[in-house]
Amino acid sequence: MVSFKGYEEIIKKTYGSGQDHVFRHWGELNETEKKQLLDDLSEIDFDALKALFSKKQSHAEINFGPAPYIHLPSDAAEERERDRAAEAGREHIEGGGTAAFMVAGGQGSRLGFEGPKGKFRIAPVSGKSLFQIHAEKVFKYSGKYGVEIPLLIMTSRANHEETGAFFAENSYFGLNPASVKIFPQNMMPSLDSAGKLILESNHGVFKNPDGHGGSLTALQTSGSLDYLEKKGVKTISYFQVDNPLAKIIDPVFIGYHILKGAEISSKAIRKAYPEEKVGVFVEFSNGSVGVVEYSDLPGEKTFMKKGGDLVYSSANIAIHLFDASFVKRLTTGGGVSLPFHVAKKKIRSYTECGYLEVDGLKYEKFVFDALPLTERNVVFETVREEEFAPVKNASGVDSVESARALMSSLFRKWLESRGIAVPRQVMEIEISPLLAVDPEDLPVPLKIDGREKVYLERS
Ligand code: UD1
Repeated sequence: MVSFKGYEEIIKKTYGSGQDHVFRHWGELNETEKKQLLDDLSEIDFDALKALFSKKQSHAEINFGPAPYIHLPSDAAEERERDRAAEAGREHIEGGGTAAFMVAGGQGSRLGFEGPKGKFRIAPVSGKSLFQIHAEKVFKYSGKYGVEIPLLIMTSRANHEETGAFFAENSYFGLNPASVKIFPQNMMPSLDSAGKLILESNHGVFKNPDGHGGSLTALQTSGSLDYLEKKGVKTISYFQVDNPLAKIIDPVFIGYHILKGAEISSKAIRKAYPEEKVGVFVEFSNGSVGVVEYSDLPGEKTFMKKGGDLVYSSANIAIHLFDASFVKRLTTGGGVSLPFHVAKKKIRSYTECGYLEVDGLKYEKFVFDALPLTERNVVFETVREEEFAPVKNASGVDSVESARALMSSLFRKWLESRGIAVPRQVMEIEISPLLAVDPEDLPVPLKIDGREKVYLERS
């Protein structure tokens, strides 16, 4: 058995759990590396990991039907109800009740981009990054509602420092640095197909970020929940870094959430086609609402239709509102922990023969698993073209190209809705969030030049 003063307990635990292969390169390590390996091991809950490995996971046997939701208004009475919600939402925002929360633990690797995905330059004309677009929106909303809206950003170990440095180098895109909180999520070890830890070097265990479901715990452990409580923030507006069209602060959505006393509210859009890679909102047999991921939705349910429409059609765009006190209850003391989902993935493993690709099991929590834990929730239908342009791939579906095209076409619609003429020569158009986050912010009259690419900035 290896030995190191002060780490006797964790060494014993590692051997006792049958994971002592991680000490295979012990003889090659210097004192600092030995300590690093032991610190890495100290963060692991070996019993929980063992239980996870032996657990069968599937949503297939769970009984569920489609979830109820607030659909888009179809008559004057429903329009009036939306107006009432907007009024309540505005009041809540103006009173300082809302913070923005971006999950940005992911890397841009699928886009062929090294570094935090948020640094990817997505804007069709100006080339602004995802981070800049989101931060400028928060800046604009703060001005519009006359209140400083905090921006919380969850990163992961791989991109935490680079994200912080990017915001600092860019003077926080005009935001008050004291109201921008950047904190990393937890890491979770992956296992090989025999349930063994994987080494990423001779003195490091391979770990992946614990999924966006880890964001609720990270809000608590980073001190962000306490910070929000002190500021009087009650509602956390959650969105993903990969959606440049996310309406970060939406008074109508917030209004419904407040009026219904919901603990979580979620935005939904109609699925574009049955196999679209989005989760769907469902109602479980015990009456709770949740999301079933596209990969877990049984084939017959994926294609099931009623009256010509898909039965499981309300898709999750990963925009949620969380009641801050609900998150606190969930994450403090004996609070409930979200379940882990497992995904098979090739992982680069350090072995005696150098680096090898092995079949790995990656464990992640999903934030929408908090939905069934609520007493009251709202699923709120919105318009796809106005709020959803996911940047997942370099080309094709949900890509850089499709997101740019969606941004450009939405901005064109905004201008047209305000009676602003867009000359025929204009192929791509971009509106800076500093000028407008909603069509009503656009200054009229406004003259657009007849150029191929148009960028409208605050004067
Ligand atoms: C996700 C949702 C899906 C939804 C779709 C909408 C899951 C499992 N599925 O799919 O229901 O319809 O988005 O676009 O989430 N992230 C972290 N830390 C992590 C993992 C992810 O911060 O540990 C962040 C990423 O930076 C990204 C977001 O979460 O912004 C989504 O992650 P991703 O893996 O791309 O989810 P999808 O499978 O595309």
